[in-house]
Amino acid sequence: MPMHQNLQPSPDTPLGLTRRSFLTKLGVIGGSTAMFGAMDALGLVASPANAAPVDFRPPRSGDLPRGRGPSIVILGAGIAGLTAAYELGKAGYDVTVLEARDRPGGRNWTARGGDTVVETDGTTQRCGFDRGQYMNMGPARIPQHHITIDYCRELGVPLEVFTNANADAYYYQENTSSIDYGQLNGRKIRHRQAKANYFGYVSELLAKALDQNALDDGLSSSDTERLLEFLRSFGGLNQQNLYAGNDRGGYEEDAFPGAGTQAGTPLDAIERSALLQSRVGNYFAFELTWNQAMLMFQPVGGMDRIAVALADAVGRGRITYGAEVLELTNTSGGVRVAYTGNGRATRTIDADYCIATIPPQILKGIPSNLSDEVATALADANPVSTGKIGLQYRRRFWEEDERILGGITNTNMDLGTIWYPSYGYLTPKGVLVGYYNFGGNANAYGALSPAERQARAVSQGAKIHGSPYTEVESSLSVDWLKTPYSEGGWVGWGSGRGPLYERLLEPDGNVYFAGDHLSYYIAWQAGAFESARQTVMDLHDRVTAA
Ligand code: FAD
Ligand code: PHE
Repeated sequence: MPMHQNLQPSPDTPLGLTRRSFLTKLGVIGGSTAMFGAMDALGLVASPANAAPVDFRPPRSGDLPRGRGPSIVILGAGIAGLTAAYELGKAGYDVTVLEARDRPGGRNWTARGGDTVVETDGTTQRCGFDRGQYMNMGPARIPQHHITIDYCRELGVPLEVFTNANADAYYYQENTSSIDYGQLNGRKIRHRQAKANYFGYVSELLAKALDQNALDDGLSSSDTERLLEFLRSFGGLNQQNLYAGNDRGGYEEDAFPGAGTQAGTPLDAIERSALLQSRVGNYFAFELTWNQAMLMFQPVGGMDRIAVALADAVGRGRITYGAEVLELTNTSGGVRVAYTGNGRATRTIDADYCIATIPPQILKGIPSNLSDEVATALADANPVSTGKIGLQYRRRFWEEDERILGGITNTNMDLGTIWYPSYGYLTPKGVLVGYYNFGGNANAYGALSPAERQARAVSQGAKIHGSPYTEVESSLSVDWLKTPYSEGGWVGWGSGRGPLYERLLEPDGNVYFAGDHLSYYIAWQAGAFESARQTVMDLHDRVTAA
């Protein structure tokens, strides 16, 4: 069995590795499909079975004496911190947000021309994208069921469709030291062609088995007839219930249907064994998952429109940027926070309560008198490595030459996936994402200089898109492990969502915690929104019970 399919993690730490090192190794060996599957299995991705929706009871000023709440200092102006400030502020709490960066949003980050990106080792890039071009460095897609959509509605953030699955994007696999992909090694095939062939052959086989009564499954004869009817339709089978190829798979590139006698030449069916050896069918499940199924959405103009709208709603005067938290102290009557103020001088703020939304891998290193239990819990969070590069092109060759308008090409190369922009269709220029990868692959790119990252991504992407892919105008890359104040894309809990995780759902003295890491939507803004709302309710219940 190929390594690719073999790497199904058990719920425990598989192969005797920590979750972190397992995910890291998986990123190297299995490519992003395996990584996604593993993340799902490790509980880094929500599934409907374990994600209990929280019924939000917004705090109301009427619950508070004279409509004024106690003072709350919120650490971090990411989605969780801003949401907490927004909801508490609406109810009359006296909120102050301290944010180390010079902008709102945290991991919700959109880069545009003129922005400077500095990594923890000093690597510095200046974004050279043209006006109107942007790249979502972190979050980029929102499923319809996420609460993120509701906040966009409330805040007036316009949305547009994000194309997460496109029949005309490609799958591309090339041989590795352990896997031979056969005839399709190093050949791109369109999603529609892969699906038509897989669905066709699977349907044909099942139809045959039904015909021979080979399935001992208690199907009644009418169930069998209905199933056959479905298989003929789903698989595009012919009168003999065979899959012989059809136009679902697409047409020869130079023989599309047209006027008059131009019927077009459908692609031949791919030989069955060659198709199975290519393993491209293993990619299909991704777009069926709870969080990745179309339709998906993005804010018009960049994901940071959400953060900016939230920050505006909180009120500029309530957020201090450039305020790096240096120390956190539970005091007898509240909290004291030391942070860098103007001119880097240390300042302190006292408040009745604190909500800490700083990622656990950062928070654990900030001096505090938080309990040992909390310190142990914070240390259980393992940051996940992930990276992206944006490549700006003068010409949208993927649209003009290959007729791909948005969507994602999946590969088993270390670049992971290539994303075509879901905005600005048919305009001259465009920024595509030339790699989005995880674990060891992300680390490998992160270790390179920005120019080397570009060169490596381009040399691989050119295998799919040819010479136009080499004509990059400018690029910008992000290594999330080396991004200050994040130091990871998101986290995985070393011991799952057990007692350590649960400890952080409770306050420590007057300090509460929130963030996507404290949700069943880790790696999603929805997790930050939901977690913040839960914490706001908990805090308000305490205040009003006092
Ligand atoms: P953060 O955004 O990390 O906020 C924490 C804040 O604390 C930051 O602003 C930080 O600057 C600040 N801080 C840190 N240290 C200090 C300090 N010492 N003093 C003061 N402030 C400090 N989500 C989606 O919905 N869709 C997606 O498609 C998606 N894709 C993603 C892709 C990538 C590559 C990444 C990295 C994330 C993605 N996410 C996606 C996840 C999403 O970005 C997060 O879940 C969400 O933004 C987390 O918000 P948060 O407020 O919990 O944390
Ligand atoms: N939410 C992120 C994204 O959609 C990270 C993620 C990737 C989460 C794949 C689950 C599966 O890119």
